[in-house]
Amino acid sequence: MKEQAGVFNKIAAVSGALGDIGRAVAEVFLRDGFRVALSDVKPAADAQAALIAFGADADNILYTQVDVSSEAEVQKWLSAIESKWGVPQFIIPNAGIVVSGMLTELPQGDVRKQIDVNFWGSYNLAVLAAKRMKAAGLPGRMVLIGSWAAERPNARISSYCISKAAVRMLCKSLALELAAHQILVNEIAPGIVSGGLSKKNQQKDPSLLQTHLDSIPNHTLITVEEIARQVLWLCDMENMNITGTTLLVDGGLSLTSKMTK
Ligand SMILES: NC(=O)c1ccc[n+]([C@@H]2O[C@H](COP(=O)([O-])OP(=O)(O)OC[C@H]3O[C@@H](n4cnc5c(N)ncnc54)[C@H](O)[C@@H]3O)[C@@H](O)[C@H]2O)c1
Repeated sequence: MKEQAGVFNKIAAVSGALGDIGRAVAEVFLRDGFRVALSDVKPAADAQAALIAFGADADNILYTQVDVSSEAEVQKWLSAIESKWGVPQFIIPNAGIVVSGMLTELPQGDVRKQIDVNFWGSYNLAVLAAKRMKAAGLPGRMVLIGSWAAERPNARISSYCISKAAVRMLCKSLALELAAHQILVNEIAPGIVSGGLSKKNQQKDPSLLQTHLDSIPNHTLITVEEIARQVLWLCDMENMNITGTTLLVDGGLSLTSKMTK
């Protein structure tokens, strides 16, 4: 994808960028010649190893510590990107956590934390970035990282499922609101990935990996690189009419009723 002066600038903003999926997304953007603003709730010191591993020109990377559930922090981050490079036009709300436990057993504060990060974090980045693009009259692309769990209740992680259902409707609502501004908004809904949150859960409960593999129709965990490639594809400015969609990348998992754990 080539940069076209005056139409779009290859400036991407990725939240949760020190996580497994976020890092892979940042990497494909960098390889494609983007300048990438990465953020994560982790301090800059934690970012050093990841930034060195990217091996890209330091001028193309900007790391900022941001808690996405804070509107003020996200606003400050977007202002910093704008001052350094210009308005980011490729927005990837990716930061996420998973809170385990049944709704009837969890304290309300834990459920709120889940919604704060996954829903409000996505909302803050997507909406604040969209306002800036609209004000500047710039087109753009957004890819929200949702989950196959948006449509599938799972009592082990109920509040996570609720948060991702909200992200799905956020995607559709923003797609409708922003279509006339040539800002296209889509969601990637991964199934079980061989990294990130799923891996952490599998480490806590070692029997989970086999349950996952047995449940996925193609018995294959998704790589972070596969997710990242699809993010880059949905960001292609030559895709003019794909908006409000969910791209399920789940090996057929959502077609089954198998996984109970
Ligand atoms: N791994 C999977 O199997 C899977 C499946 C479906 C969807 N997802 C989604 O993919 C996205 C990325 O998750 P991952 O699997 O790479 O997990 P990960 O834990 O490796 O990455 C998540 C990142 O988000 C950051 N984060 C957490 N709270 C934050 C906050 N308040 N503000 C900013 N950053 C914060 C974490 O520090 C971490 O670096 C999430 O939205 C997750 O729900 C993952």
